[in-house]
Amino acid sequence: MPADLQVREMPPGGGRSTCCPKNPPEDGPGGFEEIDMFCRTVYFNGKFVSEQEARVSIFDSALMFGDMVFDMTRTYGQKPFRLQEHLERIYAGLKYLEIDCGLTIEEMEQATLETLERNLAVVDGADVQIMHDVSRGPLPVYKSVFGGAVEPTVSINCWPLWWHLAANGPLYRSGVHSVIVPQRSVPAYLIDPKVKNRSRLHYQMANLQAHRVDPSALPLLTDDQGFITEGSGSNFFIVRQGRVLTAKSHNILVGVSRNAVLDLLTAMAVPWSEEDFGAYEVVNADEAFHTATTFAVMPCTRINGMLVGDGKPGRLTQKLIAAFSETVGVDIVAQADQYAAKVKEMEGSG
Ligand SMILES: Cc1ncc(COP(=O)(O)O)c(C=O)c1O
Repeated sequence: MPADLQVREMPPGGGRSTCCPKNPPEDGPGGFEEIDMFCRTVYFNGKFVSEQEARVSIFDSALMFGDMVFDMTRTYGQKPFRLQEHLERIYAGLKYLEIDCGLTIEEMEQATLETLERNLAVVDGADVQIMHDVSRGPLPVYKSVFGGAVEPTVSINCWPLWWHLAANGPLYRSGVHSVIVPQRSVPAYLIDPKVKNRSRLHYQMANLQAHRVDPSALPLLTDDQGFITEGSGSNFFIVRQGRVLTAKSHNILVGVSRNAVLDLLTAMAVPWSEEDFGAYEVVNADEAFHTATTFAVMPCTRINGMLVGDGKPGRLTQKLIAAFSETVGVDIVAQADQYAAKVKEMEGSG
């Protein structure tokens, strides 16, 4: 724990509150209700505070420029998955952006584990996402608002994955529709997409364009030559004649789940390579799938309205879902189904 980590009057597991969001705000208006429950705790600039108290300034460089790095780790069985790799990605991004967040990677790890521990006590056994957000902090021109000195803004929060995973069960069984959108990826020669940052307008444009075609589709972006790069929050793979192909790493966010899947393929002695490919190769692939921290491996069974393979999740994709589940000790399809039931129960009792 960093020496200056002050713990505010927040017991492990948060504090009693009457203003906790019953549903995440994106679930619609009126998420804040008078309910009696334990609140989650956020690590915020060296202190533990409630979610309601964690506030980023309107003068923060993240708001002004999207000038920050973030990352999302998730737990399986309430244990963080590949936390070190996520932290290394954060620190590589911070170095690239010349942001000194004031914590060593070891201190960040400790702050993360303590934030997790405090929150696991109040999430009813759920797995959580662990979100790190690190910005350069308020712009110096506004320093008088902050007592004459500005510091980077560092926050870590945990959110139960019930809502994020609830819709996934049927999708693991049917596969998703992926749409190649007009929006291009930002190439590394402009801003390196290996830095996981919140200047994400191009990803949001890709979402909007895909959803206009099919509200449930996942977008796929391309580079300036038309080769598929990645999704707006996922990496993408195809399987052709027993070989797995994924985009080269130069114009993508190099996903931690992508790495985990490549490790699984190596362990399973399935050949794979990083290649340039476009719509033609996907249409003619035997299988396709996305990877991302939340869903791990998600089959893709349609591309631009056309079937991939026979239009069903492929055999290798299903093997990967099973192998991933075994590695993390959680059946990821069954968990999505359980979380769907949990959300139904919570909404039903609301
Ligand atoms: C643009 C983009 N590509 C790929 C990914 C997948 O990365 P990971 O597997 O680390 O979640 C993400 C995750 O958010 C992303 O935002």
